[in-house]
Amino acid sequence: MKTFVTMGRGGTGKTTFVALMAKYLVEHGETPLLLVDADPDQNLAELVGVDLETAGKKTIAELLSETFIQQGGTMVGIPPSRRIENRIWQEGLYEGESFDLFSVGTKWVEGCYCLPDAALKNALASITRQYRYILIDSPGGLEHLNRKIASDVDTIFDIMGPSSKSFAHVKRAHRVINEVGIRFNRFFVVGGYGFDADPDPSSLSALGLPYLGKIAADPEVARMVLQGKNLLDTPADSAAYRSVAGIVGKVLGKE
Ligand SMILES: Nc1ncnc2c1ncn2[C@@H]1O[C@H](COP(=O)(O)OP(=O)(O)OP(=O)(O)O)[C@@H](O)[C@H]1O
Ligand SMILES: [Mg+2]
Repeated sequence: MKTFVTMGRGGTGKTTFVALMAKYLVEHGETPLLLVDADPDQNLAELVGVDLETAGKKTIAELLSETFIQQGGTMVGIPPSRRIENRIWQEGLYEGESFDLFSVGTKWVEGCYCLPDAALKNALASITRQYRYILIDSPGGLEHLNRKIASDVDTIFDIMGPSSKSFAHVKRAHRVINEVGIRFNRFFVVGGYGFDADPDPSSLSALGLPYLGKIAADPEVARMVLQGKNLLDTPADSAAYRSVAGIVGKVLGKE
């Protein structure tokens, strides 16, 4: 089981990258695959052709709130982690043909973190064990790191935007991840689609973090996102998909 997390500033192409990475993993038989939408805006599902509401699925935050707050913990005898785990399996997890998906959602209850956090951690550990790859799509920025959706991660991708602030973001992200105690094996920098060319080598080497290449800007992909199309149907010769396939291939040691 390997967890890949994508992060970066707002709008650098994180969610699109995750969707195209999912396409690569599915098409290369790197399954079972779990997609986790950790962005309160929840657009990963849409980009991979899933409508959680129509599928009758709830976010983890909704399930936590229903299980621990609204029901007041009256399910006597069943440990909290098992309670939430059962509900995630039944009511949270979207199970598709080529991947599963759940959404973390927004409704965190202030001041009531301890029990759900510990319970959630155990429940998620048990659920995620079934998968070969887990892709987590994060919201822009760094605040989400405090929620520690995952504390043991194989690979982190920081998708850079084309501004000098993105370099500062990468440095900060790397530092904050260490500070909040998220363990990871590898931290890579990826050039977002907004760069005209690969970022300046001297700025990259000043970061001191490995650079995997750039995601190609691709009007076809932009159009598909705009029209709410499933990015798993992106044509194989799409420039964006080919660039993402190259990046994922490197990470998987296939190229
Ligand atoms: N490779 C690409 N080529 C062209 N346009 C792209 C590409 N990747 C993303 N975009 C466009 O950029 C916009 C933002 O993409 P995306 O939602 O993936 O970014 P994000 O980093 O996840 O944003 P947020 O921080 O809001 O979650 C989308 O409208 C999408 O069409
Ligand atoms: Mg996003």
